[in-house]
Amino acid sequence: MDLLQSSATIIRANQAETGAYLASPSFPAYRYAWFRDGAFAAYAMDLLGEHDSSGRFHDWAARTVLHHAGKVTANGAGILCARYTAAGEEVNLPWGEYQLDGYGIWLWSLARHLEITGRRALPAAWREAADHVADYLLARWQAPCFDCWEEYGDRVHISTLAAVHGGLGAIASWLDRPDLPAALHAIRAFILENRAAPGHFPKFLGTDAVDASLIWLATPFDVLPTDHPGIQDTLHRIVSDLQVGTGLHRYPWDSYYGGGLWLPATGFLGWHLARTGERRQAWAALDWLAAQAGESGALPEQVPEHLLVPAAYREWLERSGPVATPLLWSHAMYIILRSALAAPARPG
Ligand code: BGC
Repeated sequence: MDLLQSSATIIRANQAETGAYLASPSFPAYRYAWFRDGAFAAYAMDLLGEHDSSGRFHDWAARTVLHHAGKVTANGAGILCARYTAAGEEVNLPWGEYQLDGYGIWLWSLARHLEITGRRALPAAWREAADHVADYLLARWQAPCFDCWEEYGDRVHISTLAAVHGGLGAIASWLDRPDLPAALHAIRAFILENRAAPGHFPKFLGTDAVDASLIWLATPFDVLPTDHPGIQDTLHRIVSDLQVGTGLHRYPWDSYYGGGLWLPATGFLGWHLARTGERRQAWAALDWLAAQAGESGALPEQVPEHLLVPAAYREWLERSGPVATPLLWSHAMYIILRSALAAPARPG
């Protein structure tokens, strides 16, 4: 089966009745629904015309936000979690649940869904949930939270800010929120202030290192244009510090499963290259993703190649079994990148 079809089949098969997408069925710690992973899966399904699937995810997301919104108070207490059960309940296990990026990505994905499906107005429950999320993000974006890799909860992460800006910017025209333009301006100014000038944007405030998720500043969240010098410097640093062959590490000292090459990260780089017209390299990223599929057409989260910390790979393997496979987010990235490259012929 073509990997595009098997990717859609895998995403469909792991969507619960409730609409939630489960991150990975075979990996016990990932049998939950993340806002981040789910929002990218929904976008991928929209690109394939599977609007019923994406719509059901947005219903689940909105219901889940509204169910838990009462826990969040204006004085900064209470959080919305990074992941929930398929029924939308909290998972009562220790985890760095406080992650703002997933909520920004949800708003972005919701706005894409509305555009792609030609909706003229936001359904009431989606509007109410999106308003809650906007309030939540506006009140908290400047303070530390866990990043998109669920680490460093005491830091302020640039890619989290990119996702927050991307989501609020994308949903702004669907909400009646006169407060959004000034907030977007402030978030963007804050990001720019934290660039090593001249130079790249850092993984988090207080480090010089880069992280693959910084690609989000340009693709897909359009905080800055792709030809902005800060974006170009960041992309150069990502390629020189994190790329091995075609695949990308997440960041220079990653030790999760030994720190292999990540499919979502490589997918984002490919997507960015497709958008900037570097099609040959974008095709190489797509081919690299496809080459990681097992016989069943399942894509993993990462491949244990060029490990940054080889001893940690064995420890994780013994503790938690093989790397999560299939990972819905990897399949979503394959669909997204393939769709970004669709159209004119492949370069010879
Ligand atoms: C990754 C997250 C992801 C989660 C579920 C974690 O290991 O760091 O980015 O959302 O797995 O796929």
